[in-house]
Amino acid sequence: MTERTFSIIKPDATRRNLTGKVNAVIEDAGLRIVAQRRIRMTEAQAKKFYEVHAARPFYGELVEFMMSAPVVVQVLEGDNAVARYREVMGATNPADAAPGTIRALYAESVGENSVHGSDSTDNAKLEIAQFFTEADIVG
Ligand code: CMP
Repeated sequence: MTERTFSIIKPDATRRNLTGKVNAVIEDAGLRIVAQRRIRMTEAQAKKFYEVHAARPFYGELVEFMMSAPVVVQVLEGDNAVARYREVMGATNPADAAPGTIRALYAESVGENSVHGSDSTDNAKLEIAQFFTEADIVG
């Protein structure tokens, strides 16, 4: 079923000029980038985006990291896009990520892991709505 997921190319990747390489992996996997914007995350945006992790010991560090350089927020569309993108990203910790996945190829550590992707269709809708309106998305 065609669905949408939300993606972030994180500061460790934009800092190393990897936006195009990450996008090539996404597109080669059959996912379509139907919206994309390069932004500087504000503290309020980063805190809200990761509020489910607010109690975790790494929350402060995560929020600081997400503000440390530009990020690229994206909407990806395709067959089973949520699950497909999670496969394409690989495991959260790059040490556990399968060969050829974005995190195996590019991530530096569990915290600085190059990309984010929604973990469910419900969260995808909420995450997309934090950064895009329907008019921004051109399928
Ligand atoms: P993401 O998929 O964006 O969702 C939550 C993020 O928290 C995760 O990717 C990592 O970047 C970060 N994260 C998860 N575990 C750790 C950890 N142990 N230390 C630092 N950051 C973490």
